[in-house]
Amino acid sequence: MGDIIDLGDYGEGFRADPHPVYAALRARGPVHRVRLPAPADYESWLVVGYEEARAALADPRLAKDGSRIGLTPLDEELIGPYLLVTDPPRHTRLRALVTRAFTPRRVELLRPRVQRITDDLLDAMLPLGRADLVESLAYPLPITVICELLGVPEPDRAEFRRLSTETVAPTSTDSGQDAITRLGAYLTGLIEDKRRAGPGDDLLSALIETTTEDGDRLSPKELRGMAYLLLLAGHETTVNLITNGVHALLTHPAQLAALRADTSLLDGAVEEMLRYEGPVENATFRYAAEPLEIAGTRIEAGEPVLIGLTSGNRDGTRYPGADRFDIRREPRAHLAFGHGIHYCLGAPLARLEARTAIGTLLDRAPGLTLDGPPGAWLPGMLIRGMRSLPVRW
Ligand code: HEM
Repeated sequence: MGDIIDLGDYGEGFRADPHPVYAALRARGPVHRVRLPAPADYESWLVVGYEEARAALADPRLAKDGSRIGLTPLDEELIGPYLLVTDPPRHTRLRALVTRAFTPRRVELLRPRVQRITDDLLDAMLPLGRADLVESLAYPLPITVICELLGVPEPDRAEFRRLSTETVAPTSTDSGQDAITRLGAYLTGLIEDKRRAGPGDDLLSALIETTTEDGDRLSPKELRGMAYLLLLAGHETTVNLITNGVHALLTHPAQLAALRADTSLLDGAVEEMLRYEGPVENATFRYAAEPLEIAGTRIEAGEPVLIGLTSGNRDGTRYPGADRFDIRREPRAHLAFGHGIHYCLGAPLARLEARTAIGTLLDRAPGLTLDGPPGAWLPGMLIRGMRSLPVRW
């Protein structure tokens, strides 16, 4: 076993630009023992090579259900089990209950609404001449879409937003914990309200009612866990795809010009944005359910493993010139949405939102350019995104 690498030693620079650190780690080998920066501050394995990361994502020996090794993550304890903390057969069962709502065909039905929300946001933003893109477009679009889909009332959304960002990128252990507790209480109330009011036409109402052919349905805790995951995963990620994607374009003028000249490149450009600066830096934790080896490194039963999506996507052995942002690259099998049975359920929705937001923005703001440096990068190693992106046009 090699040395423990303390990622905290890289300081603030690791947040703003983790790529050189991951490149240095890849040069030393595909898997390392690391200590995570504060506030996490604990040890884990980190898989940084593309091939190893892709294989690890689909490896059933790397379990998500911590109770198999005597661990229960705090959000599961406070909110309930959900897809990313369960293994088959429970995971299979839970996923079957929601898959239908997120197929490309079902998501396609949302296109006019996604376009309308985008247009309304741009109608409000464009007369200003300059704005923070996160605040004006990248955040409100996905949070409005997922809150409408699940039936979170409009007046609750500002508080919901504050709590959810703190949950996925906590500024301290206490505030993260507090946010999860409050979100749990909020969701319990929301579900009770919907039960009392009778079924509405939103997805959460449908999930309350859903019974599969063999009579299976979600328990109250599973229902809360599902609402929690869909609401959080449904917007804390897409906001950063839109922001990181626009940032990549504005800092690569030749790529921006190529896209403006040929808008048929848009879908491919969004895939390259996912590869080049995807919103999920590392997959959610897995645990070795039994002793195993990754690229000759032994991992003992019970040890936690982080899988580097950002790092894998910049692996030059898989994507030549991987640090170059190239919208014509066609980055097949990138890891931004994960891989295997936990592959992102919301990928069709995320793609629809990002293509609509970025395509419409470029169309309606021909002179779009940066208006100063972006805000701070979000803390933690899960989400890769910036708090603000000042632009003018
Ligand atoms: C650009 C936006 C998005 C990115 C980059 C993204 C990324 C990911 C990744 C990497 C995973 C797997 C995590 C792991 O294996 O540990 C995942 C899972 C998941 N995502 Fe997304 N996601 C995005 C948008 C969405 C949206 C819009 C939804 C909402 C419907 C969503 C719902 C989910 C769910 C429910 C899972 C868990 C699937 C399972 O465990 O079976 N995601 N996502």
